Amino acid sequence: MSASPLGFALLLDGLKAAGEDTRLRLLALIGEGELTVSELTEILGQSQPRISRHLKLLAEAGLVERFREASWVFYRRAVDAPGAALTDALLELMAPDDEVLLRDRERLEAVRAARAAHAQAYFRAHAHEWDAIRRLHVPEEQVEAAIHAALSGGRIGSLLDLGTGTGRILELFADEMERGVGIDLSAEMLAVARANLDRAGVRNATVRQGDIYSLALPRDAFDVVIVHQVLHFLEDAPRAIKEAARVLRPGGRLLVVDFDPHDLEFLREQHAHRRLGFAPEIMESWLAQAGLVPQSHRLLAPKDHGKSGEGRLTVSLWLARDPRIVRAEAQHNKEVA
Ligand SMILES: C[S@@+](CC[C@H](N)C(=O)[O-])C[C@H]1O[C@@H](n2cnc3c(N)ncnc32)[C@H](O)[C@@H]1O
Repeated sequence: MSASPLGFALLLDGLKAAGEDTRLRLLALIGEGELTVSELTEILGQSQPRISRHLKLLAEAGLVERFREASWVFYRRAVDAPGAALTDALLELMAPDDEVLLRDRERLEAVRAARAAHAQAYFRAHAHEWDAIRRLHVPEEQVEAAIHAALSGGRIGSLLDLGTGTGRILELFADEMERGVGIDLSAEMLAVARANLDRAGVRNATVRQGDIYSLALPRDAFDVVIVHQVLHFLEDAPRAIKEAARVLRPGGRLLVVDFDPHDLEFLREQHAHRRLGFAPEIMESWLAQAGLVPQSHRLLAPKDHGKSGEGRLTVSLWLARDPRIVRAEAQHNKEVA
């Protein structure tokens, strides 16, 4: 992750903010992942007002970023804030085997273990629902391989996963992307995603709370957007596609993974599915209305579909592209010709 260098005044402010015992330790901890004020208070064993004051100074200097999720306030290392370059450099310079930092990291692991246990308890309570649906379609590995194949073709700069759920898509692309962001409406699912990403050692992805219909993200920001098994829960899928298209960079790609039309009414009654799959032509018209150009469509039918597998689920993958670069390239080619 490369950040822009800093001017003299910002560098001085940043160094002053970082140049204090507790704040440097806070920076080291936040470098390991997103943490709440109360988690940082627990790790460092100091009072909450004191920790909050230090965090405020680090945030004002642009070394860390603060964001709210329901009643919780999280801190993460600066990525978009001006101090990102200094944060990156300071974290790089910290010896991983330093005694102070090692002790803090041990306490961090204990806090994370408690957080993961809490998240897993929530997930376990709902896991049967996911499993029941998974059993109805081709194995998950096959779907994941198809997602990879659809997006093959080089490293991804920035990836946005809408309705991230367990954070699985971010984990899947961790080695192929520079930076990943997952959005979900549910604070409980975000806790599950954070625990999973921590466990998998994924450092280049963050998750945050947000609504797929109205993303608190700038336009033209992501190279790839993925919407995996989310649209069938929504009242207004085309609106979600338009919002996904808004945040795509020129030439960026949107991958929608959902179901082909089916007749499993119980998914509506018991699992809150709003739509029983989507016909390819409907999805393609929504993609076109959002200003995207459909690129490919693939169906993954269950093996015994049509025999004993009547009524089972066929997974459908649509890939579409923002045409703006394509137009610029075409213009360029016309000029060169
Ligand atoms: C079946 S799970 C998604 C699975 C996930 N994409 C994956 O690949 O494993 C659907 C997710 O969509 C989220 N969701 C539903 N409506 C949403 C909305 N309006 N905005 C953001 N997330 C939403 C739910 O909270 C849930 O975590």
